[in-house]
Amino acid sequence: MAIRHFLDLWQLEAGELRAILDEAHAMKTARRGWPKGRVDEEAPLDGHILAMIFEKSSTRTRTSFDVGIRQLGGTSIVLNANDMQLGRGESIGDTARVLSRYVDMVMIRANNHADVEDFAESAGVPVINGLTDRSHPCQIMADLMTLEEHGVDLKDARLAWVGDGNNVCSSFIHAAAKFGFTLAVGTPNRYAPEEDDVELARELQGRIELYDTAEDAVAGADVVIADTFVSMGDTDADERLDELEPYAVTEELMDLARPGAKFLHCLPAHRGEEVDTEVIDGPNSLVFDEAENRLHAQKAIMRWCLDK
Ligand code: CP
Ligand code: NVA
Repeated sequence: MAIRHFLDLWQLEAGELRAILDEAHAMKTARRGWPKGRVDEEAPLDGHILAMIFEKSSTRTRTSFDVGIRQLGGTSIVLNANDMQLGRGESIGDTARVLSRYVDMVMIRANNHADVEDFAESAGVPVINGLTDRSHPCQIMADLMTLEEHGVDLKDARLAWVGDGNNVCSSFIHAAAKFGFTLAVGTPNRYAPEEDDVELARELQGRIELYDTAEDAVAGADVVIADTFVSMGDTDADERLDELEPYAVTEELMDLARPGAKFLHCLPAHRGEEVDTEVIDGPNSLVFDEAENRLHAQKAIMRWCLDK
């Protein structure tokens, strides 16, 4: 069997993604009320080791993968890329070959998406994309799980993304093609999503609508999604903050969405920048369920990678 890498949502069959989400829901339900350190009933990844490589900061991804592999019965090693020979010029290919001799699976958070693809090419074990400049597939699996928990039927839903058409936006674009929801994206032209992602999703029958105002994107939406205006690695913070200011999610903007529309944000958030406090801390904000569900969704992704 080919090695099961989890690099981007467009690469997986819709049925496989559906099965991962179903498993995530089931695993969450099965351990409700348990202490967080207790191993799941079947310990499906007993004896397995996950290595995590970080080129950028992380709170949620690092902690949820670490707790997740433990709940599955496995263990983990966290590696800071700067402390590795990778930081002194050892090739990605050699690093991938070596780590594959020690561990059963590798999660990478990298600056350049192509580096994760190169790593996977040389690895003898599954590789998971834990965020790159181009995408954040694990995040979107958790986000969709969260919407389903709150009664959103993804096939009929209208989701609105506003602000920067960044890495998280790209994975939502890929997901629209796989889960059938409509994605309305509102960004200034300069920060529009990658054309390749939009074309790819449309080729896969994804319903992607592009707007240049937040208001047009949010009109009639069931869900409104924001992310930071300045992502890790962005060097033009001042320009971004200026140009993206009209795309902030305020209560007035939320009023244009469907009554009771949900709010999502992958976190970390900047209150008063991309979202107002009243929205992110309001009754329709799902951001902490979203953060929790990183754990459950990634456990299901790790099981899929190892076919367990
Ligand atoms: N949402 C997310 O990936 O958070 P971290 O950067 O804290 O991992
Ligand atoms: N777009 C953000 C997401 C952080 C989880 C970034 O890349 O910094």
